[in-house]
Amino acid sequence: MKLTPLTDVFGMEVGDVHLTPDLDDETFAGIERAFEEHSLLLFRNQEMDEAAQVAFSRRFGPLESTLAGVAGAGGEIVRVSNLMPDGSLKAPTSHLALFVRANLFWHTDSSFKATPAKASLLFARIIPEAGGDTEFASTRAAYETLPAARRARLDRMIAMHSIAHSRDKIDPTATTAEQRAALPPVPQALVRENPVTGRRSLLIGAHVTDVVGLEISMSDALLAELEALATRPGHTWRHSWRAGDMIMWDNRAVLHRGHPYDEVASRRLLTRTTLAGAGPTVEAGTIIEARSRT
Ligand code: OGA
Ligand code: MN
Repeated sequence: MKLTPLTDVFGMEVGDVHLTPDLDDETFAGIERAFEEHSLLLFRNQEMDEAAQVAFSRRFGPLESTLAGVAGAGGEIVRVSNLMPDGSLKAPTSHLALFVRANLFWHTDSSFKATPAKASLLFARIIPEAGGDTEFASTRAAYETLPAARRARLDRMIAMHSIAHSRDKIDPTATTAEQRAALPPVPQALVRENPVTGRRSLLIGAHVTDVVGLEISMSDALLAELEALATRPGHTWRHSWRAGDMIMWDNRAVLHRGHPYDEVASRRLLTRTTLAGAGPTVEAGTIIEARSRT
């Protein structure tokens, strides 16, 4: 297994590894260690069908399942694509297409769930000639560059996260009342610690509505400042996909966003599996005075 850095602060390309069912336990343990340490791993030239992707992902722990209707048929595989299951194009204004477009904002997967995701594994199957890159940014590097006094204040803060909030930025009609009721806003610690390495990172992104206890204008300013810090040049990895690329990233330490491509003239299909997180980031019983944002 050969590791080559992608940036100065996070991300490794992993060479000489085939993610096949016969991958030995020792190599797998090395992959797990590299994941905790470097937050993002890129494996090129892989071959796996959806079942093999699920099987490989499960070696890391339990997977999240998605509800049918949000990103396709539901289950442990999410098809990130402009294609319908039968291969036809999604209508560009359809709800399904709008949900994919919300990926263009910096976000961390599933932060709108009480237990946010640990990691996501995205495998490239069909890639357009141009566009459709995915970009990643280290919220761990951002946290670690802040002065200690500032970090100590952020450590105590809680933010509210909501899927409806991020979807509303694309189209307020995209999220149905049923979906809103099924996924109400949840509190998340603003700072998360990796239990293996002890290193901390910011939990921010498009699903955040506001920081609890701050005036909305202060909250907006703080979140914008932290996002700008995390995504500044030199701290991001912009990946131009080739079919057969697999990227696994740590949702606890990395923000990501998609980039546009011609959704009418080209085809794009990636499949995602999502590792479930260990538990809520806010202690049970914490009283939160949430307020709705107008
Ligand atoms: C995702 C995601 C962005 C992209 O799959 O979670 O945000 O570029 N994808 O497809
Ligand atoms: Mn995503």
